[in-house]
Amino acid sequence: MRQKLVIGNWKMNGNADLVVAHREQLADTAFTAEVAICPPFVYLHAAQHHLADTNVALGAQDASDHAEGAYTGQISAQMLHEQGCKYVIIGHSERRAMCAETSEDVAEKFVQVQAKGLIPVLCVGETLFQREQGQTQDVVVGQLKAVVARCGIKALAKAVLAYEPVWAIGTGKAASTEQAQEVHQSLRQWLHKQDAEVAEGLQILYGGSVKPDNAAALFSQKDIDGGLIGGAALQPEAFAAIVQAAS
Ligand code: 13P
Repeated sequence: MRQKLVIGNWKMNGNADLVVAHREQLADTAFTAEVAICPPFVYLHAAQHHLADTNVALGAQDASDHAEGAYTGQISAQMLHEQGCKYVIIGHSERRAMCAETSEDVAEKFVQVQAKGLIPVLCVGETLFQREQGQTQDVVVGQLKAVVARCGIKALAKAVLAYEPVWAIGTGKAASTEQAQEVHQSLRQWLHKQDAEVAEGLQILYGGSVKPDNAAALFSQKDIDGGLIGGAALQPEAFAAIVQAAS
């Protein structure tokens, strides 16, 4: 049985007070799922302090594809390690689209993150156009393959995969449980052909308009092991309800 995992991706929202609000809300919530929050970089230090004696882990929203050097504005995996991060989201569709990150760039980030003992949360997902063209499977497997080609299949034993259909992110229009399960299953089946043990152990999260009212149905699917939460992760009560739905 894979453990359920819920990760809050704040994107460019929130502040240090929101960390405290989550800590207090989750302290009043009974849950068994693994939980992490990913605030913007500048709040990681405060978050590390506020979450120190809790069972809420910390994550970052990105990391550099380089270890160190003249990369103005970038943050290294080592720095994230020092700030107490456990997870690092990489390959989010917003970064692929707005920062022109390629799957090869994402694979280099994966390498850097794992080199520091952090867990990459690798995001894959198709646009609406790609879905309508019947390319969903090729797109998501292609994004995954780039990492496997660079790092080897065994590297996924220490990673998390997140399926985030681009058309469902921030739109209020989540994938149906059937649509999500279908893609999760196809990702796991592809992985199975490479390495059955890795495929069975890998947590595959769903992200895209997860809310308290659809979380339980999504998380009940065989291949959906939790969620990567955007908008609802800015509301401590809603986030806690989603964590409970995974517990
Ligand atoms: P929403 O939950 O706001 O749709 O965002 C999902 C997401 O992109 C999480 O990484």
